[in-house]
Amino acid sequence: MKFTIPLPLQHEHEALHEQLRLAGQADGEVGEAARALAKLMHPHFVKEDQFALPPLGLLAPLARGEWRAGMADVLTLTDQLEAELPQMLAEHQGIVAALGTLRDAAARSGCSDIVAFAEALTEHARTEEEVMYPAAVLVGRLVRQRPGEPAAG
Ligand SMILES: [Fe+2]
Ligand SMILES: [Fe+2]
Repeated sequence: MKFTIPLPLQHEHEALHEQLRLAGQADGEVGEAARALAKLMHPHFVKEDQFALPPLGLLAPLARGEWRAGMADVLTLTDQLEAELPQMLAEHQGIVAALGTLRDAAARSGCSDIVAFAEALTEHARTEEEVMYPAAVLVGRLVRQRPGEPAAG
């Protein structure tokens, strides 16, 4: 079974990606800071797209009480998320530090749109830590509790 990241989250990621790409085209220290940030973000985004966020596609059907056997395939993703969560949270620390550098550089250069972007992306990381990642982990825990599903592994 294929698991699809809820569209609003996909759109949010796409918009952040695009803003980061544009910030990377800025001159001087702002562009430099944006490109350094993009380097940190890329491998992190890949993990989010591969296994951290697709389980959230099951939130709505599970909340409606729907169940199909194929849903158990999500355990592959949620097990990987639980295993890599400490690393992903550490990546957020690096990303948030790089965002602080970008925000300060943008403020010095009077780029208020990039200041706003850096603050929005920092908030995005906190939303993932406090809402999205835990919700994806809970999807896995709930699916594992279904009768007839493996208790572990
Ligand atoms: Fe993200
Ligand atoms: Fe993230």
